[in-house]
Amino acid sequence: MTMRLIDLYCRDAKTVCDLGGGTGVYAIPLAKTGKKVLLLDISKKEIEIAEQKARWAGVQLKTHHCDCFSDALVNNCTYDLVLCLGPLYHCRNIQDVEMTLDKVASIMKDDDGTAIIAFLSKYSKFNDASRKKILQDNDLTCLCDYYESLMHNDTVFSFQKRSGGIPVSFVEPSLIKAFFVEKGFAVLDVVASDVFGSIESGISLSETNRFLNVAHELGRTIKLNDGNHVLMVVKKSINK
Ligand SMILES: C[S@@+](CC[C@H](N)C(=O)[O-])C[C@H]1O[C@@H](n2cnc3c(N)ncnc32)[C@H](O)[C@@H]1O
Repeated sequence: MTMRLIDLYCRDAKTVCDLGGGTGVYAIPLAKTGKKVLLLDISKKEIEIAEQKARWAGVQLKTHHCDCFSDALVNNCTYDLVLCLGPLYHCRNIQDVEMTLDKVASIMKDDDGTAIIAFLSKYSKFNDASRKKILQDNDLTCLCDYYESLMHNDTVFSFQKRSGGIPVSFVEPSLIKAFFVEKGFAVLDVVASDVFGSIESGISLSETNRFLNVAHELGRTIKLNDGNHVLMVVKKSINK
């Protein structure tokens, strides 16, 4: 779905900044199409893997090690496309969210820059559980605790800690668009992704496109709560 959104909204982008780009799942295919890509990540290990994959693919990939919650981003460049597909899953608090979105806005081209930003849906735990064949007692207890705590909580973001202390942050899908508008972004699309799971490689292009058409349309509307991720496509608002 992410590649479809890039293709729909940013096919002609020449420069890309991939914040939290990890091992280059998007950065490398985009570099292969001739775009200039900078990948930033907090993990040196992920960056090394991305660099290795770029060498194997014979493509140019610039990388930079940084924490996008706190560090300044490399330079004053602006980009046609900014991807932020990961860092916002691990915010500790609303300040991390706001800091990251300010940085995204600061590196988007003023006139025609686009950003694609991903969040974890607060319903993803339920979706994960419902895909498991057998739920153990403990799973049920954890799920009930989690959803009871959310039932009367209509905040846009919720912040938790996983075992091991890793922060994990979720959004309420129905409230995220208004949050972005309030922050001064123009929202082009909001889509729940992985509504139906992922597609096996080797499926024909026409069937894949048909599947993506359905998933995109449903992900925009009645199925917003059913995806594990929420993808936003935004531009800087002209009113800002
Ligand atoms: C789930 S992975 C997604 C990687 C890639 N964007 C993708 O979609 O395949 C999340 C990535 O965000 C990175 N990340 C998390 N918090 C970050 C932060 N504060 N600054 C920069 N990168 C961060 C992680 O190291 C990891 O590589």
